[in-house]
Amino acid sequence: MWRCTQLGKVVVTCAWPYINYTPHLGTMIGSILSADVVARYYRLRGDHVIFVSGSDEHGTPVEVEAVRLGISPKEITGRNHAQAVELWKKWKISFDNYSRTESPVHKAFVKEIFSKIYENGYIFPQETELPYCTKCERFLPDRFVEGKCPFCDNESARGDQCDSCGRLLEPTTLSEPRCAICGSKPVIRKVKHWYFDLRKFSAELLRFIEQNKNLPANAKKFSLNLIKDGLKPRAITRDNKWGIPAPFPGAEGKTIYVWVEAVLGYVSASIEYFKHRGEEERWKEFWFDKTAKTFYFIGKDNIPFHTLILPALLLATGEAYNLPWNVSSTEFLQFKGERFSKSHKVGIWIDEALELFSADYWRYFLISTRPETKDTNFSWEIFLEKVNADLNDTLGNFVHRSLTFVTQYFNGVVPRALNLDEYDELVLASVSDCVSKAAGDLEACRLQAALRHVIEVSRLGNKYLNEREPWKLIKTDGQKAANTLNVALQLVKTLAVILAPFTPSCAENLSLLLNLHEKAHWDTATQPLPEGHKIEKPKQLFKKVELNAEELQDKLEEIRNAETVTFNEFSKIDLKIGKIVEAENVSGSKNLLKLRIDVGHGIVRQAVAGIAQQYKPEQLEGQEIAVLTNLQPKRIFGLESQVMILAAEDGGIISILQPDKPVKPGSKVK
Ligand code: MF3
Ligand code: ZN
Repeated sequence: MWRCTQLGKVVVTCAWPYINYTPHLGTMIGSILSADVVARYYRLRGDHVIFVSGSDEHGTPVEVEAVRLGISPKEITGRNHAQAVELWKKWKISFDNYSRTESPVHKAFVKEIFSKIYENGYIFPQETELPYCTKCERFLPDRFVEGKCPFCDNESARGDQCDSCGRLLEPTTLSEPRCAICGSKPVIRKVKHWYFDLRKFSAELLRFIEQNKNLPANAKKFSLNLIKDGLKPRAITRDNKWGIPAPFPGAEGKTIYVWVEAVLGYVSASIEYFKHRGEEERWKEFWFDKTAKTFYFIGKDNIPFHTLILPALLLATGEAYNLPWNVSSTEFLQFKGERFSKSHKVGIWIDEALELFSADYWRYFLISTRPETKDTNFSWEIFLEKVNADLNDTLGNFVHRSLTFVTQYFNGVVPRALNLDEYDELVLASVSDCVSKAAGDLEACRLQAALRHVIEVSRLGNKYLNEREPWKLIKTDGQKAANTLNVALQLVKTLAVILAPFTPSCAENLSLLLNLHEKAHWDTATQPLPEGHKIEKPKQLFKKVELNAEELQDKLEEIRNAETVTFNEFSKIDLKIGKIVEAENVSGSKNLLKLRIDVGHGIVRQAVAGIAQQYKPEQLEGQEIAVLTNLQPKRIFGLESQVMILAAEDGGIISILQPDKPVKPGSKVK
């Protein structure tokens, strides 16, 4: 199973996270962390790895959020992208290039590829019917429309995909459709869009899926079913503003559908990587050379975009791009039986996680419970078990005992082994076996199993020490004690190497304790330390977690609540009831209204608010509303906004906050 490779080329990628919020643990294990483990593994094998991904900036959620906040979408994605980059560092994610879909290289590449596919005759315009919201005055593609899935009856399917059965949908096929912004029932209107003719690739895709031996069962089965159901042309343009302009004649003003451009980011981020290194052409070795492998790490909801749409786009260029070698698609990580949800505060986010424990604890826990064949559940009980039983008692303890004995009995110098007996040899052989098995599992993206083989090394080690009892041997049989600790140190050395893909900081600390400073290589994992080699003083690798599940959850809440304001801070906020005396549309903006508000004593202030999709000016005039009056003024769309109106938002539906009886303007809200 453990092949001897020559230097290979490996592209490791993970789904580009949407950047309108901080990622949670589910995203981490579903894509980013899993990819990192495999990228680190292949580097350790000496292969040339490029690990690329980036922020998925376009798409409707960001646009909707930007409208709400009255800022540009890029302001949101820019801020979140910078935060994400910091977090990857803290999680020790070893990206070679973490790019973004607003990168000029990406935009240029997308334009080039779609122009090519268009010239090759796989893209055609067609008049089509789309749901249109007359209240919001916009077409409702993708997430802008919700309704019942025509296949599985899930009530909250979106226009592009059903999260429940995973099928790709067209927005008009939803039954009982509703506008995601205002909830009203859309009408159907005609509009012209450009379509990618997926049908033409059915045979090639079928061959690709059937012949790919690496795809996990979920990806294979799902993709084959979709092909069997019959692939259909997909609309690849949108009437949204936020996105990459569609380069087709006659499509001016339209943008490319976010998914079909984001998946091309895998290639564009590779191009960008080599460009920055001044090796403009080298990306081709990774994308056209048939010995190169491409690994994709994604959650199961992303399967069709990676097994069908991306390969079809690459095929449609007419160039011999490598198709995915493996698409490792995980099931979902749930939180106490529920899907992670930011709005309901269900789950744990990757920034707050690090305030509780450093990255290696989480990395170990997440990989050892990676949802590979079924949805799994996060619970603090399992977290405690993994950290305390595996990391602390098994791994940490074995390493600590071995190093301490060598320090005490042999002055911290690797003792000479002489005439190892059968049991010594057996332990060494078993460890070798663990190393090969871990390699095989890593190459097949079975990360959970791979990590089990790694921990098995320390389990074997503990058992070996317990049976050999070097603390007794040192008094009765010096050579046997030396042999035992020589073998134990070999195991520690093995761990220092093979832990690196999983828990990189721990592996690094272990190497330092072993006084190893050269670059590690997987193939030397079982090579013994030279006799006479001096090691450092032992130090603990992990700390046992003394809190119980409930206390941990409390601590998490505490971290979240650390964002609370004191009463003093709150009292600085000047909230009042105002009366809207004038309301008008802001010309050139579909979303903004300009309001003149009486905030008491006849003082009138101006507010610019992103509520035009939901309220008509005449609805608002004369209304009383809660306003924040001492916020720093800011310019929105060239207009000064001096006060901020308060409104509630629920799934895109906005309700302004009003007193339930008449209140004099200027009255304090408290
Ligand atoms: N942003 C998507 C998600 O989080 C994934 C995009 S993957 C890409 O589900 F390949 F399109 F980038
Ligand atoms: Zn609407």
